[in-house]
Amino acid sequence: MSLIPFEGANIPPAPGRSKVTVASIQDKKSHGEPITVLTAYDYATARLVDEAGIDMVLVGDSLAMVVLGYENTLPVTMDEMLHHTRAVRRGVRRAMVVADMPYASYHVNESEAVLNAARFIKESGAEAVKLEGGAKRAGIVARMVDAEIPVMGHIGLTPQSIHRMGGYKVQGKTLSAVEKLMKDAVALDRAGVFSLVLEGVPREVAAMITHEISAPTIGIGAGPECDGQVLVFHDIMGLTFSPPAKFVRRYGDAAALMRQALEQFRDDVEHRRYPNDEESYHLPRETAAALEDVALRKHR
Ligand code: KIV
Repeated sequence: MSLIPFEGANIPPAPGRSKVTVASIQDKKSHGEPITVLTAYDYATARLVDEAGIDMVLVGDSLAMVVLGYENTLPVTMDEMLHHTRAVRRGVRRAMVVADMPYASYHVNESEAVLNAARFIKESGAEAVKLEGGAKRAGIVARMVDAEIPVMGHIGLTPQSIHRMGGYKVQGKTLSAVEKLMKDAVALDRAGVFSLVLEGVPREVAAMITHEISAPTIGIGAGPECDGQVLVFHDIMGLTFSPPAKFVRRYGDAAALMRQALEQFRDDVEHRRYPNDEESYHLPRETAAALEDVALRKHR
């Protein structure tokens, strides 16, 4: 049995690119360099994301929707998130791996929240966790940071609040909502988040928060003034089945590519074009000859 539980984490990154850490993410903000984040949920896609030089790989609870086929993010469990984070960890060498804390894993009490966050670090090799919510989560964030767990905050449109919000709606459109978002951001910054996701907020609000707090802001549907941007892997690859949100930019049409390949495979098998001789194994010459002899003897 290997003593190294998280393979990728122990292989040095390719020369010329150093390992991404909390400190290097924060340095990027200080130097005005944009931070790149994408989600991934398995070994193969995590490896591709890492090899493309993306700074952080987020094992988002969007897993529930884009991989597991649920209607929202609420049903995904701790065990499922741990399982997928381990797979991602094995594919990543350079990027920082952040695991999303699923709904109800940090909502009941602070001690349970810290224990669940620690499970991601100990059992899956994540280097940080993400959780949703503003000032009301500041106490939990401070306790996690105290337990040496880097935390990424997430405010604005928080998908785990879907039932309270009454749908996926842009947040921070009224003066009082803007003031609340600003208070939330400042409270999380003071509690020690190393970065803060701003989702579904007007770009003007995201720009104000980005300017105000020391933690780097990572936008999704929050305009270009954030310190970094995050998108869902399946969204940018065109691997989703409903029309994308306004902020999604599609960088590929993987679904079309896959459909074409799948139909071609079916067609080839149905018409006996697959496999051909070159795609088949052959007996060694001596065995083939011996087999022929046996067959001839049988027919004498
Ligand atoms: O779960 C997720 O993918 C996320 C990002 C979109 C920020 O929370």
